[in-house]
Amino acid sequence: MTSVIVFDTTLRDGEQSPGASMTPAEKLQIARALSRLRVDVIEAGFPAASPDDLSAVQAIAREVGNDGDAPPIICALARAHENDLRAAFEAVRDAARPRIHTFLATSPIHRQLKLGMSREEVIQKVAEAVARAKELTDDVEFSAEDACRTEPGFLCEVFTAAVRAGATTLNVPDTVGYVTPLEMDRRIRTVRANVAGIEDVTLSVHCHDDLGMATANTLAGVAAGARQVEVTINGVGERAGNTALEEVVMALHTRSVFFGGLDTRIDTTQLHRTSRLVSTLSGMPVQPNKAVVGANAFAHEAGIHQDGMLKARQTYEIMRPETIGRPESELVMGKHSGRHALKVRLAELGHPIDDDALDETFARFKALADRKKHVTNADLVALVAAREGETSGVFRMTGLDIKCGTGGASAEVRLVDPRERAQIYTASGGGPVDACFRAIDRIVGVSPRLLEYRVHAVTEGIDALGEVSVRICGADHDPKTHPQWGESTRAREFHGYGADTDIIVASAHAYVSALNRMLAVEPVMTRAKAS
Ligand code: KIV
Ligand code: ZN
Repeated sequence: MTSVIVFDTTLRDGEQSPGASMTPAEKLQIARALSRLRVDVIEAGFPAASPDDLSAVQAIAREVGNDGDAPPIICALARAHENDLRAAFEAVRDAARPRIHTFLATSPIHRQLKLGMSREEVIQKVAEAVARAKELTDDVEFSAEDACRTEPGFLCEVFTAAVRAGATTLNVPDTVGYVTPLEMDRRIRTVRANVAGIEDVTLSVHCHDDLGMATANTLAGVAAGARQVEVTINGVGERAGNTALEEVVMALHTRSVFFGGLDTRIDTTQLHRTSRLVSTLSGMPVQPNKAVVGANAFAHEAGIHQDGMLKARQTYEIMRPETIGRPESELVMGKHSGRHALKVRLAELGHPIDDDALDETFARFKALADRKKHVTNADLVALVAAREGETSGVFRMTGLDIKCGTGGASAEVRLVDPRERAQIYTASGGGPVDACFRAIDRIVGVSPRLLEYRVHAVTEGIDALGEVSVRICGADHDPKTHPQWGESTRAREFHGYGADTDIIVASAHAYVSALNRMLAVEPVMTRAKAS
């Protein structure tokens, strides 16, 4: 059986989707999950973007890139110039298997309107960038940005130059999600037939989902001979997103015979929990009817289907829920479960925690078990995700008292600020969430715009844990009253997540965690508050 290389770019292309930015600790958590999933390559970020991006990739390279006997390749993206290439190498050099991924646009639209470069200049720059990357490390990937709108003959010339300069992987991105499966098939066959030295390198496809064809195009590329797929968990990514890892992996797994015996090294039983983790940490919900990992992906509602399923599951089921690690029964623990049981269960769920974190998580688990009879796997994952969100921030909520009636509500909120000083404020509002958010705004000294507010019950039952996610931006900051807030927070979105049996408490945690993300990109503000 031949394996298709799974190159995951959740932490690079995925993180570029609006509002999906993650803290370094969250990125590391996702990288660990990707390693357990057994992806072959983790594209951990774009180190030239900022010193924070560089150190986040470095942390992943050092830990996950040296994990066990066969750690994943850790890859960093670089534009085709010296500074980017150096930053990328700095970031991945400590991994056992580092890769530099460099790219340059090749289509006429990009050459003329973005780069202002001739064909010859593009070829020259690609050759120089790949050769420079090759001096730094052996494993070099080259992507021809907007390859699918590039003249086929010119694309082959660029790729030939990249192979000569030392590229070991050639990537064909459909950057704007434009092509159809038939066109992808032709493009891959053209490249295979016309690029000198192609038999010695890996050919890769990278698709975006603007017309809803990313998975189909990726699979067409594989059928035509590509042996690396560039994907993200849940298909997160800019605009309509990237190809979803779980869809390609399960298509190859389920239809391996059709694909001539191709498969991947992925441990499919990790798919469900990795999807949940990415959804929680990126603040991007998974639609219920999403292929493979959606809540309804294995639900058979129609009577005629249920009848067939009862007679023989294969009448309507092409994959088993357990193949993707979706537990049939989620019931796991109760108030009498001990610390060790919690630690083991969290590790099984893909959230290993050290002894320091265990103390606090156990206290939270006990508090939850007092309020909720059955604590499920989903509850535990939500509990851990909420804890991560809070500890990575600068403000922490320590208390909340709500008074609520038909005429409105008031909320007394207690926070600890970045300098560990206790802060307290009482505000009123139209309802408890409104009052609570107003009080938090006053303590932090901001007035962001609330773009989205969602509540979701983690499990069934009146005692269910409520998950809240919020999305905010700084669009409403008045430069006169908040001069310290720059353009970066006005234009960007930030998400936050909280979980509690009380949805007002969960809402307050989610709001504080979104504000903390906003403060992280606006250090001036943090300093101003702290001084
Ligand atoms: O979509 C794209 O073209 C990319 C490249 C940088 C590979 O993400
Ligand atoms: Zn992309």
